[in-house]
Amino acid sequence: MDLKNKVVIVTGSRRGIGKAIALTLAKAGANVVVSDINLDDCNKVVEEIKTIGGNALAVKADISNPEEVKDVVKSTVKRFGKVDILVNNAGIYMQKSLTDVTEQDFDKILDINLKGVFLCSKAVVPEMIKQGKGKIINITSIAGQVGFANSSAYCASKGAIINITRELALELAQYKINVNAIGPGVIETAMTKDLLKDEATKETLLANIPLNRIGKPEDIANAALFLASNNADYITGITLFVDGGWLTH
Ligand SMILES: NC(=O)c1ccc[n+]([C@@H]2O[C@H](COP(=O)([O-])OP(=O)(O)OC[C@H]3O[C@@H](n4cnc5c(N)ncnc54)[C@H](O)[C@@H]3O)[C@@H](O)[C@H]2O)c1
Repeated sequence: MDLKNKVVIVTGSRRGIGKAIALTLAKAGANVVVSDINLDDCNKVVEEIKTIGGNALAVKADISNPEEVKDVVKSTVKRFGKVDILVNNAGIYMQKSLTDVTEQDFDKILDINLKGVFLCSKAVVPEMIKQGKGKIINITSIAGQVGFANSSAYCASKGAIINITRELALELAQYKINVNAIGPGVIETAMTKDLLKDEATKETLLANIPLNRIGKPEDIANAALFLASNNADYITGITLFVDGGWLTH
């Protein structure tokens, strides 16, 4: 799949799934904007992309801050002239019971996981309309489709991403902007490190995964590459679950 001359913004791409998406899309020929809250880490990813012959730019931004989000788009257009693809990947997880989770925790998770998707999409769409085409890929979760205990705010935010994906697909189809989501299962990243450290928890998780392995960031990146490519031009509004079969039972 060829993304030559395409310009992609990947939020939350200093590490984990976002980094794998940035590298995979860069290998396919895209110019990649690596954006996250830590510029040093973003620059390291940019260097990695350059060593494989790619082209990339690091931009620091907190996706819950509308001004910083607008600056990412401005910097992208200044450097690469346009935006073709947005991957709304940045997100946070917090495992707390309803008794322990505070209103501030709830607001923070919704602000980053959900409002971030809204703000970034709102900021890039005018550029995509100018191109007469575009692709938005939102990273949700299996926790947006089924309940996970002690994750009320996270489940709410990820469930909402699945439906805002459908809504944006409907609203933006007239501009040939495809909006889809990817729903990862359990993927080995910093987000799940503590969970997976505990052998008993890992065994319980594996018992729910018919393909019997924890996912890798590259499993999600491969799905993102497909949805970003012209091969997915007739797909919009869907959530592609990449979960080793978790949601089959
Ligand atoms: N790892 C999993 O098992 C799993 C499963 C389902 C969904 N997801 C989703 O995949 C995405 C990536 O997660 P990951 O597993 O790579 O975890 P991660 O913690 O390694 O990556 C998340 C990235 O988002 C960035 N980020 C956090 N808050 C931000 C903000 N306000 N502005 C900009 N960037 C911010 C972090 O700095 C980090 O680089 C998240 O949306 C997550 O909810 C992960």
